[in-house]
Amino acid sequence: MAEPCPTPLLGRRVVVAVSGGVAAYKIAALVSRLVQDGAEVRVAMTEAAQRFIGPVTFRGLTNRPVAVDMWADLPEPEAYEHIALARFAELLVLAPATANTLAKLAHGLADNLVTTTLLATQAPILLAPAMNAAMWENPLTQANVARLREAGFHFVGPETGRLGCGETGAGRMSEPEDIRAVVLALLSPENGPLAGRRVLITAGPTREWLDPVRFLSNPSTGKMGLALAQEAAARGAQVTVVLGPTTESVPPGVEAVRVDTAKQMRQAVAARLAGIDVFIGAAAVADYRPEASAEQKLKKTGAPVEVSLQPTVDIIAEVAVSPDRPTVVVGFAAESQDLESQAAAKLERKGLDLIVANDITQPGSGFGTDTNEVLLLDHTGKREQLARMPKRTVAERIWERVEELLGNR
Ligand SMILES: Cc1cc2nc3c(=O)[nH]c(=O)nc-3n(C[C@H](O)[C@H](O)[C@H](O)COP(=O)(O)O)c2cc1C
Repeated sequence: MAEPCPTPLLGRRVVVAVSGGVAAYKIAALVSRLVQDGAEVRVAMTEAAQRFIGPVTFRGLTNRPVAVDMWADLPEPEAYEHIALARFAELLVLAPATANTLAKLAHGLADNLVTTTLLATQAPILLAPAMNAAMWENPLTQANVARLREAGFHFVGPETGRLGCGETGAGRMSEPEDIRAVVLALLSPENGPLAGRRVLITAGPTREWLDPVRFLSNPSTGKMGLALAQEAAARGAQVTVVLGPTTESVPPGVEAVRVDTAKQMRQAVAARLAGIDVFIGAAAVADYRPEASAEQKLKKTGAPVEVSLQPTVDIIAEVAVSPDRPTVVVGFAAESQDLESQAAAKLERKGLDLIVANDITQPGSGFGTDTNEVLLLDHTGKREQLARMPKRTVAERIWERVEELLGNR
């Protein structure tokens, strides 16, 4: 039986920007390899690059339109394609990197889709220079390279060898396999922004039992909390999820502690809080539980039954005042009215650092959906309304904010 192909970059988002050198033809092999590795790859090209290789090749390899024109009329919500690409990228690779584009980058120029995207991104950028040896050795190019290195750009190559122009010398672009190896290293979780951080997340519903066969619960599936866990693991964190009953699967690399009731969830959180950097309470924890839970199944008598409910302990409020309080504590507010004022009050009352508020009456928002439309409010007064987007993308945006609050950025 054939072995399944390993996909070390599964779901990772890479933008490959191509500038105008002969080595551009080799970038088809690089893009193809990254796609086979499971990455979501988007390609941007300078005008000169398109003289060396056609966008249609990259379009075929990535199954995505190729970004070539900053002035193209794009449908919403990608009206600013360079910003969309800059945000999409977890890593940008400029290959081949021409002397011209390196020079522009070193001086902050943004005059085409590639340079504008490179300037607009917060993601790491890998440069694979390729040019004639005299161009590479020119002190102006070397000064630009030194400036870029100092500014934190990553380089792969160039190598010494046979150049496109027929000469031999320094300036040959690293082979696609070598560029890929650096991409893998830069995207490995050990290099992620949350490397060395410990994260604890609650997710899913809880069940509060009336008797052995009946419980009070809610429609939460745990999708949002699990998306947060997956994203944190991809960013290098060591992640534990305390997970209420759900059929959703736990992402690879994430430790799951299965619980049933609010009480069990509280105990599981308390037992794991020491040494945690970030706590996110994404679970829909029951606010009330039946005062008594019958040991035997309650018989149907036809008469009305009165159930007395007791409040449960507020897990996140307890975490926020714990002596083991994590550096950042994030809560969720699922509301059906007065979203912003309710969420702001909750942020304040519970002593949270960030609250993620969603209006559960909106279609495509809240319980069980694959998308979410949220408002982020933090303790510094920053407010950010996000459009409706997949829960994984919401998770990315939440982690960007948490990283800011951790002082990572
Ligand atoms: C046949 C040919 C090959 C070229 N190869 C390179 C190259 O390998 N590296 C380079 O920096 N410029 C090379 N150039 C010059 C660039 O294409 C030129 O500087 C262009 O303005 C780069 O534009 P861009 O940086 O926006 O892509 C080459 C030009 C031609 C005509």
